[in-house]
Amino acid sequence: MNTKRLSSTLEEALSKQMNVELYQSHTYLAYGIWASDNGYAGISNFLFRHSQEEREHAIKFMQYILNRGGKPTVTALASAPGDPQNLTDCFNKVFQHEVENTEKIYRLVELAFDEKDWATWNFLQWFVKEQIEEETLAMDLIDKLKIAGGDKASDESLFTLDKTLGETPDDADLARDATSENP
Ligand code: FEO
Repeated sequence: MNTKRLSSTLEEALSKQMNVELYQSHTYLAYGIWASDNGYAGISNFLFRHSQEEREHAIKFMQYILNRGGKPTVTALASAPGDPQNLTDCFNKVFQHEVENTEKIYRLVELAFDEKDWATWNFLQWFVKEQIEEETLAMDLIDKLKIAGGDKASDESLFTLDKTLGETPDDADLARDATSENP
């Protein structure tokens, strides 16, 4: 009996996204290595933690496909992007990667909607919310660096920024959780 509850199109698209998330993990790992090599221990810690989070995203896709009777495929990954030129470039690229990933998630949502696969549509809503957080987190990185003085930041403010990012939580505050007491 065929117990697969996913169309072949969605199975393939979700499997592709699992590999995209693994590539995101690869990318954050590479940027974390670059940051560590440049003496930014806190920033590299932040990026390494994020690399782990991306792997967890991949695992969610893997598990969902398996739960629905499908079979994901682990493919070869491209090399990680090259080293950023500086911290501004690094944080801008992080933001850009997240926006590109959001667009991929939106295409999956559209696909699930078109197929009226509400289980997959519902599963993907977790990622829609997660991408709001990821983009907010990336915007925060850019803002914090700007406040520290951008590429012209003094060693002292870079030291403080590095320390702050090493301790920064992995999740961003979402608008839906804001209250008038805690906006
Ligand atoms: Fe898994 Fe940063 O998106």
